[in-house]
Amino acid sequence: MRVLVLGSGGREHALARALHRDPAVTAVHCAPGNPGTAGIADNHALDPTDPTAVTELAGRLRADLVVVGPEAVLMAGVGDALRRAGVPCFGPDRAAARIEGSKAFAKEIMAAARVPTAEARVCETSAQVDEALDAFGPPFVVKDDGLAAGKGVVVTADREAAAAHAAACGRVVIEEFLDGPEVSLFALCDGEHAVPLLPAQDFKRAYDGDEGPNTGGMGAYTPLPWAPDGLVEEIMATVVQPAVDELRRRETPYVGVLYAGLALTSAGIRVVEFNARFGDPETQVVLDRLATPLGTLLQSCAIGGLDPAFRPEWRPGAAVTVVVAAEGYPAAPVKGDEITGLAEAAKVEGAYVLHAGTRTDPDGRLLSNGGRVLNVVGTGDSLAAARAAAYAAVAEIGLRASHHRTDIALRAATG
Ligand code: AMP
Ligand code: GLY
Repeated sequence: MRVLVLGSGGREHALARALHRDPAVTAVHCAPGNPGTAGIADNHALDPTDPTAVTELAGRLRADLVVVGPEAVLMAGVGDALRRAGVPCFGPDRAAARIEGSKAFAKEIMAAARVPTAEARVCETSAQVDEALDAFGPPFVVKDDGLAAGKGVVVTADREAAAAHAAACGRVVIEEFLDGPEVSLFALCDGEHAVPLLPAQDFKRAYDGDEGPNTGGMGAYTPLPWAPDGLVEEIMATVVQPAVDELRRRETPYVGVLYAGLALTSAGIRVVEFNARFGDPETQVVLDRLATPLGTLLQSCAIGGLDPAFRPEWRPGAAVTVVVAAEGYPAAPVKGDEITGLAEAAKVEGAYVLHAGTRTDPDGRLLSNGGRVLNVVGTGDSLAAARAAAYAAVAEIGLRASHHRTDIALRAATG
């Protein structure tokens, strides 16, 4: 099986790595990929949001499967174009990807499918915003209606800050605050059936103790020792399958990974958001644990015929990923600083480094090239051991003025 992965971040490096381990996969290609994927795959310089260029490359490579990383690729209609050209694509058409691309559309699907979520109002004028803020009260949750890479959401007790964010966005969704721990669950879908992966937890805030602005995610871990028994099956029955059924009923079948971001509130499970792609950085820990060959699994979604009773096998133990972020991330990340210590980090037992925002210069030096620069993954028999491995490897890395959280998986590891 020849596989083409679209995207250039840590999630795509993790996908390429897991595909590379699948004995049925004979070649992994990435477009554009990054210096990390270059070690295990063939990188192709190309804009992954260009449907014509991607379809042409997939044809030239005789790809048996295209795996889409970022949501922008889906919203550009790349999945539609590939399927029209007869290329199996793991990633939904644009119409179904709107479950992520429009918060208002996601709310509409959830209402139709009776999926539990925060009560919400779509607001376009400052009068509507004022009314909604009054109705829900603090803490205020204000979300840009469009794609914002996890950064379009403001959760604040400060009413003026909430109103200012709404004014800056235009069309927003204002909703009820959901209390309780968050869980990310990825379900693989073939348009009709869905199969869950391991649940993971992401750390969205920039700084330790959940302080600071929302980011794309500063770290993740799996498994979740604190999760109640039966959680995954409950999410599949009350959230994932109803959403998949509703999209199929609308003749926009969902093929790809449906990412349910959930809050476990005192009143029960509530959907915080849906994403139409693998989560970043949760994928880095979930795929680390996957024992079932990934390529074969994703292909059965792309071509149809996924067995809904199938459950992937998982390696025992735990995985923790820590994001090493550039100076200024998330507001204004500084790019172009040299990265050192990767060879030393790789020698730490149980740890390895995935590239997220890196590039090489003409002299072969590795430079930062994005907000989230590296994802350091630690593995071990327990979350405590996985954390120790991850942080020992982080300590080996040199990147001027970089920052990372020191409390990824800390509470879960210490009970
Ligand atoms: P989203 O892009 O919708 O996932 O929002 C980003 C982050 O903001 C989430 O992961 C939560 O941490 C937080 N958030 C979003 N919606 C709510 C809500 N209704 N109540 C509490 N926190 C929320
Ligand atoms: N880690 C959050 C996301 O991928 O949206």
